[in-house]
Amino acid sequence: MGTGFILGIETSCDETSAAVVERGGRMLSLVTSSQARLHRKYGGVVPEVAGRAHLEALLPAIREALSQAGIGYRDLEGVAVTRGPGLIGSLLVGLTAAKAICFALGLPLLAVNHLEAHIYANFMHFPELEPPLLSFVVSGGHTLLVHMPAHRRYRVLGETLDDAAGEAYDKIARFLGLGYPGGPEIDRLSGKGNPQAVPFPRALLHDGTYNFSLSGLKTAVINYVRRMREEGKEVCVEDVAASFQAAVVEAQVHTLVRAVEETGVRKVALAGGVAANRYLRSKLGEALGEKGAELYYPPGYLCADNAAMVAYLGWLMLEEGDVVPLDVDAAASLPLPETQEA
Ligand code: KG4
Ligand code: ZN
Repeated sequence: MGTGFILGIETSCDETSAAVVERGGRMLSLVTSSQARLHRKYGGVVPEVAGRAHLEALLPAIREALSQAGIGYRDLEGVAVTRGPGLIGSLLVGLTAAKAICFALGLPLLAVNHLEAHIYANFMHFPELEPPLLSFVVSGGHTLLVHMPAHRRYRVLGETLDDAAGEAYDKIARFLGLGYPGGPEIDRLSGKGNPQAVPFPRALLHDGTYNFSLSGLKTAVINYVRRMREEGKEVCVEDVAASFQAAVVEAQVHTLVRAVEETGVRKVALAGGVAANRYLRSKLGEALGEKGAELYYPPGYLCADNAAMVAYLGWLMLEEGDVVPLDVDAAASLPLPETQEA
């Protein structure tokens, strides 16, 4: 087996990212160009704008990732790219570039599931981490509670019935005039606010499932702010942010603790952009600690969308021979692949 390198490409949403990982999983470079500035004036990601921006930023990002790793195209052993889920026009930019490189150099194409890559950011950062574990995938588009009995085996225990976690943060932030993306800003402002200031309803379903729902809480926050404004009262944004975040996180912690108790699985790995949330990390870590369970989460640069996690999972897929033909399509709503025996 050679000492090859995997190029990773990620363009599913609004980050254009390229990375090089060497066989064995060590990251040699990660170059990410964020489009947040372009989308900010619209208060959210505009798909057409995202697709065009990827087109401009991708090749420079790939060149820079190769150059920082000190390698050339000919040193590559495979190309890993996010196939879905994500914005179709954005996915196509990355997938087409990956196919072109593979075609030109006769390399294997590794079509990566974005959600699985988020989960694998944990294995990348904690090489000693092994399944079985529960993974809580919280991003701009997804909220999934997943049981993972073995590597690359998944069973979805619960998901959101309405807004994804990051989506709710972004919508509340937009309503409060905090800009895009709103999650990091709510996280930051919450540090200065009182989480008990406004008793928002806890986003708990009480239906015995592991599903989540945030639309009721979101409406409660919006109604509260509107009422305050109508009554001419000052809205303390820090307190509203902290109280909203507390309501979200309390429900998430409650559900995850129940999942740990009921499944007997003692490891939980956070994944996705919202895994960067400081309040979620600390409250969940405390609660799981009391149950004798351990919490894992990747560092911030591996929580947000990035090509390093894509290249890392691509390397494992190459080892397993999980290679696809070059006519594979992008898939906007690709689910996490579930296994029967999981
Ligand atoms: O995984 P990701 O980078 O992109 C998707 O695959 O969706 O997640 C982006 C989401 C955004 O909604 C963003 O507001 C949220 O993650 N986010 C956060 C934090 N950092 C990013 N939400 C809460 N607290 C944070 N610190
Ligand atoms: Zn993501």
